[in-house]
Amino acid sequence: MRFGPSPGDGSRFIGAWADLAGVGRDHLRGGFSRHVFDDAEMQLRQWFAEQALRRGLEVENDRNGNVWAWWGAPAPGAVVTGSHLDSVPGGGAFDGPLGVVSALLAVDELRLRGVTPTQSLAVACFMEEEGGRFGLPCLGSRLLTGAVDPDHVRRLHDVNGVSVAEAARRVGFDPSTMGPDPARLASIGTFVELHIEQGRLLRGVDAAAAVGVGSEIVAHGRWRFTITGQGNHAGTTALADRQDPMIPAAAAVLAARRVLSGFDGAVATIGRITPVPGGTNVIASAVSLWLDVRHTDAAVTAAIVDAIAAEVRNEAAAEGCSVMVQRESMSDRVAFDPGLGLEISSRLDAPVIPTAAGHDAGILAPHVPTAMLFVRNPSGISHAPDEHADADDCAVGVQALADVLETLVT
Ligand code: HGY
Ligand code: MN
Ligand code: MN
Repeated sequence: MRFGPSPGDGSRFIGAWADLAGVGRDHLRGGFSRHVFDDAEMQLRQWFAEQALRRGLEVENDRNGNVWAWWGAPAPGAVVTGSHLDSVPGGGAFDGPLGVVSALLAVDELRLRGVTPTQSLAVACFMEEEGGRFGLPCLGSRLLTGAVDPDHVRRLHDVNGVSVAEAARRVGFDPSTMGPDPARLASIGTFVELHIEQGRLLRGVDAAAAVGVGSEIVAHGRWRFTITGQGNHAGTTALADRQDPMIPAAAAVLAARRVLSGFDGAVATIGRITPVPGGTNVIASAVSLWLDVRHTDAAVTAAIVDAIAAEVRNEAAAEGCSVMVQRESMSDRVAFDPGLGLEISSRLDAPVIPTAAGHDAGILAPHVPTAMLFVRNPSGISHAPDEHADADDCAVGVQALADVLETLVT
């Protein structure tokens, strides 16, 4: 008998999904802006706690700002599912929350099936997965696993100069407790994250598949370029007298695309540039820009960054500007548990695909047998308001997640 997901009832999914539709809408940029410890994300945390309590799940905030909803007392070998509630600026509705809503609905489905878990099961919401406020992605899972220095994290600050520590305190979290949580990590037996697919690999592998299984996450990182020149008047400064950091910044954007022609399978993006002071009639004194580079091989990723940085430095020297390059985050390529992935793929009759998107599952994978399920995204668009998955596919995703969890908790 094929153990795969039964056709999903999209209406059940739509009902649960509706709660989130109005939270954190970004009327300026479109889409949603929900960032760790801001009002929108705190509303979502509140919603999650209510949903969990309504299901009789025990809600727990851990020392790192992550939230856990337990079915059964936390115990070694726990099966954990879930994702994140935060978004990129002006992001889509599904990236993160789909995994959380689907996990709650999968708990409902297990109960409908009369499943009595012999393993404790938790739905987890990891904080600041996108790094949208403090710049370091997967902050909650990196803190949990000891992948980042908690003192460094406490000092990270947002564009308004508010530190992680201050933002945490403002919402009643004690930042002094942030740090590795080895006992909690050791108690996780398996982690399975459901996520909207980002990109369109699934359709290329199996046009009929509503759900795919993750094999790996490519290496990816973020670098900050700070280019310093001389602020001046836009009208009265002769060209020969200019030290305009926007010129090397423009070179960086073009180099990020041009350099890729020498590297197969890589992507590089500059989506964020901040000139100081940012006046229309002002030559900027400095420009910060952030480079996102991804490739299966971390060494290639680094080589791409070096090639781009070399071009920026050349332009900066010609313009009388200086350049500082700082690596803000780096994740090596990570493979999900191959045995678990193959078992899930055969049970669900679902194809296996890699991803170039980072996830908390990628941070946990070196420590815990980890798998990911991807729900079909017809356009492939993500990190944008047009991000969308069909309700029936989301419902199939819930069934698939319930199938996987049922095999893991019994
Ligand atoms: O940026 C990423 O790859 C993920 O969507 N956070
Ligand atoms: Mn994302
Ligand atoms: Mn995500």
